[in-house]
Amino acid sequence: MLLVKGKRIHSALEGQIEVFADLHELSRVAAEKISALIDQSLRHGGPFAIALSGGRTPMELYGILSSRYRDRIPWDRVHLFWGDERYVPSEDSQSNYKTVQDSLLAKVPIPPSNVHPIPTDMSTPESAADSYEASLREYFGRASPSFDLTLLGLGSDGHTASLFPGSPALSERTRWVMPVRSPVPPPVRITLTLDAINSSKRIFFLVSGEGKGKIIRSIVRDPEGCSLPGALVKGELQTVWLLDRDAAHDFSP
Ligand code: 6PG
Repeated sequence: MLLVKGKRIHSALEGQIEVFADLHELSRVAAEKISALIDQSLRHGGPFAIALSGGRTPMELYGILSSRYRDRIPWDRVHLFWGDERYVPSEDSQSNYKTVQDSLLAKVPIPPSNVHPIPTDMSTPESAADSYEASLREYFGRASPSFDLTLLGLGSDGHTASLFPGSPALSERTRWVMPVRSPVPPPVRITLTLDAINSSKRIFFLVSGEGKGKIIRSIVRDPEGCSLPGALVKGELQTVWLLDRDAAHDFSP
């Protein structure tokens, strides 16, 4: 049962939401969960494939993984992918790859062959999307990608990865990766499609800041009826919403 402004509501997200005092606590617990998931998964095989989120929220998590968990995670058995990328040079400060390069890749002993960035130096965004999809199909060799874990953020308009409201990548049933237009700069992005994201075994949303409160409330109140991209995401085994108190300011589990 969730409380929204003191009112008790049923929500399909019940049991999937964890609220933390602040982003630091959220990031600390997220790192703990990821490390435990990697250990559990590698006990039954491996390697562990994780699709990383862009944006600012996960940066503290990446910093904790690269410090406190640097020597605890078997990086040679972890493969890193991206859920989306801005179509800018990889050294551009807006690049999701650069964010991860600076906060994680430069600090952990992960083999370069285990790092699978979305290319942004090809002749067209379409060819970049095709190239990334080919690398996913080569890695997964299946009817669909099956990331062990996908990390996602949420925009204040309800977008996640680069799936913006009304995006064709929300209804795409064949392609795993598409170039899309973004209403917020940078204008051109490459994103996993909704189906590709939903083929992930587990999905963690990391959402922080009071600017996200309204959209979180919309999704929590009616996750089945809400058509915002963030509400359409559902992992095969698990979807967890890790929120800080500001993002959850209107309700408490
Ligand atoms: C991106 C992300 C995007 C992000 C949200 C939240 O490339 O920007 O994939 O979906 O996660 O916009 O961003 P913040 O964490 O910066 O609020």
